[in-house]
Amino acid sequence: MRAIATRPGSGRAWVVDVAEPELANADDVLVEMLRVGVCGTDRHVMEFPPRNERALPAGDDFLILGHEAVGRVSQTGSGVSSLQVGDFVVPTVRRGCGECAACAVNQADLCFTGRVRERGIVGLHGFLAERIVERERHLLRIPADLDHVAPLVESLCTPEKALRRIDNARAHLPVDGTLHGVSRALVTGSGPIALLAVMALRLRGVATWILARQPASGPAARLVEDCGATYVPLQSVELDHPQAALGVFDAVIEATGAAELSVAMLDVLAPNGVLDLVGGPPERKPVPIQASALGGMVGRNLTILGSVNANMDDWRMAVQDLMTMRRAFPGGVEALITHRYAMRDVELAFERRPGQIKALIEIAEK
Ligand code: BGC
Repeated sequence: MRAIATRPGSGRAWVVDVAEPELANADDVLVEMLRVGVCGTDRHVMEFPPRNERALPAGDDFLILGHEAVGRVSQTGSGVSSLQVGDFVVPTVRRGCGECAACAVNQADLCFTGRVRERGIVGLHGFLAERIVERERHLLRIPADLDHVAPLVESLCTPEKALRRIDNARAHLPVDGTLHGVSRALVTGSGPIALLAVMALRLRGVATWILARQPASGPAARLVEDCGATYVPLQSVELDHPQAALGVFDAVIEATGAAELSVAMLDVLAPNGVLDLVGGPPERKPVPIQASALGGMVGRNLTILGSVNANMDDWRMAVQDLMTMRRAFPGGVEALITHRYAMRDVELAFERRPGQIKALIEIAEK
């Protein structure tokens, strides 16, 4: 069968012919893949040489890409009870280290050892293939009418976890209401994670701003304004003191991965504010920070946290929110998918294009 693979460090991906996957365990499920999203992490995997011997699946010198996916169950093992042939499913990404307390209770997003594997990212083949086999517990059934946009479930589980973590970080505050008193929130970036974070905040009734580099007349700006959020072009804000232009926020989700922006966002946190980094800057480089920014953290009880991946509750919440978003913001979720490619267009699919938000690879398209 056909799949799309890379060799980390090669900077490219190509179509390969690989063996058909087969059911090996009673709880295995064979899934016919429908469509898979392309994301910045895929490009990162393609560009950077393997960090250690765990980067590639055992015995292989290539990695099948793809971790934002949807497919349809085509065969179930004898022990599978919750899924049936024909069900639409989204596979989760991370698999536990098998050693720590978090992974033991299926919370690999909180792994203590860091020796996790992630399908299509590290150590395990991904979902950019005509068929995959996966354990029942790593598959989430989704409503049939969500399948065209369902790779976005994976993108949305990141902001879902961020919101849960922000809520936890504010749980000690003597205030009720959404996320323990978040009345103003800011999201940075204009990729799918940022835009879905804005929609998730708007669903919860939070007044939301978004700060991004795209022009104010572009599709990202239109999309967030349709959800009742305010778009602020990055060029209009002085990063030495962004508070002057933006005011202050109870919660900020930083989704660009730009370290300078992460540091600058400390300035716009209101007392008891929380900054959640979901972008994860990959470079090694020093970034200047004013000592008073740290003083302000103390003086205003600020929290900075980072969050990666998601637990099963976040995944389920992502499915539910994606359905609610489609009703609340008609056409908004669909507008996030700007490009669709066939597998044979692999070269084009991984290129960054102007105006691109989310590109999908349609597996069934020849
Ligand atoms: C994926 C996560 C993954 C993270 C780190 C992100 O792009 O959405 O599932 O845990 O990369 O590899």
